[in-house]
Amino acid sequence: KQIVILASGSGSNAENIITYFRQNPLVKVSAVFTNKISAKVLERCDRLEVPSFYFNKVSFTNSDAVVDVLKGLQPDLIVLAGFLWKIPSNIIEAFPNKIINIHPALLPKYGGKGMYGAKVHQAVKENEETETGITIHYVNEHYDEGAIIFQAKTPVEPSDDADAIAEKVHQLEYEHFPKVIEKLLL
Ligand code: GRF
Repeated sequence: KQIVILASGSGSNAENIITYFRQNPLVKVSAVFTNKISAKVLERCDRLEVPSFYFNKVSFTNSDAVVDVLKGLQPDLIVLAGFLWKIPSNIIEAFPNKIINIHPALLPKYGGKGMYGAKVHQAVKENEETETGITIHYVNEHYDEGAIIFQAKTPVEPSDDADAIAEKVHQLEYEHFPKVIEKLLL
């Protein structure tokens, strides 16, 4: 089974997924794509010896260039791991029910355009939530609105600042994301 990952940032989830499947001969991450030429995920791919590709906005949103490259890779699953652009409909249509995303909150709360990274954890803090977590869901034409596949929760203490919340959420991501992917593929 082939996984393709899309990431825009550090890529710690991408690295975690790549290494998790290293010991599984049936599943492998065949490539990582990014829309940020400076994304740290590219360095991680070099170190992990995973093919990585950069694409700019015009190749992603106004052409079939990325769809054609993705089709060539024949992915069984396209995994968004900290990817910050909306997926255009031509890509959604090319891979129905094969694109999933992880969001660092309990959707439908704290989702939608512009809600990512520290902004999410800051909002959770400001609203004095007593818990937060992760949501893994199918991707559709709207930010963070596809069918939910999995959620995991962690308590939020009044003493937790946004960074402390982020750390708890990252731990949930590293623990659960590869396992949820494995269940979808095998
Ligand atoms: C994660 O918190 C993920 O939930 C969100 O973006 C972040 C990506 O972190 N979608 P990294 O790039 O995998 O370190």
